Amino acid sequence: MKKTRLGVNIDHVATVRNARGENYPDPLRAALLSEKSGADSITIHLREDRRHIRDYDLKTIKKNLTIPLNLEIAPTKEMLNIAIKNKPNFVCIVPEKRKEITTEGGLNLKKNKKFLKNMISVLKKNKIRVSLFIEPLLSDVETSFLLGSDCIELHTGSFCNSFNKKKEHLVKSSYCKLKQCAKVATNFGLEVHLGHGLTYKSAHEISKIENISEFNIGHFIVAESLFVGMKTTIKKFRKIINR
Ligand code: PXP
Repeated sequence: MKKTRLGVNIDHVATVRNARGENYPDPLRAALLSEKSGADSITIHLREDRRHIRDYDLKTIKKNLTIPLNLEIAPTKEMLNIAIKNKPNFVCIVPEKRKEITTEGGLNLKKNKKFLKNMISVLKKNKIRVSLFIEPLLSDVETSFLLGSDCIELHTGSFCNSFNKKKEHLVKSSYCKLKQCAKVATNFGLEVHLGHGLTYKSAHEISKIENISEFNIGHFIVAESLFVGMKTTIKKFRKIINR
């Protein structure tokens, strides 16, 4: 059986650090501990406002990590240049709004088509695996394929919201959308990833979907680690996604 990979997003270790302007907790330490605890990759989002991960985090984590680094960036020239300079193993292109608390939805592929096509091609020429963070919509799956992306990451926010609030009919419909998109994407030859808002319970439910290669999980891992530590949390997620 093919192993489903776990990407650990450590943005919120930096959020805690920045809240007090101190140099702890150190995201690099979290990245190395995640690596030791069984993470398959480390995800960091360098936001345009640098509210959590900062440029020097990117540099030190890239330098010291032995597992792949997945850099999340907005579709902008500045971010493309940073990616090319720092050469993460993977890039996931995500939408960004200054005032949002977190990445609230998938990319607007129609609006950004020309820029995205070029950005994907430049990243691939630099041997960086590219993923597009999209809503679970069949039209966006097809557009991702046409734009030349290697992978898609399906935004699981709607699913997780309805799952947490026990809105059964919405859970069912969002689950079906994710399942259908995963199937169609696989037929297009795209690798399928899932991420956003996942907890032990929602990841358990969603891991029934076939053809998922990677989960990217952050906020819940950092939160749960306060009580049981990163090692225990990561090991538990590993078991859940590979059951
Ligand atoms: N995947 C992508 C593309 C993201 O932007 C994020 C953070 O919003 C995550 C996964 C992780 O989400 P969370 O922190 O809610 O687990």
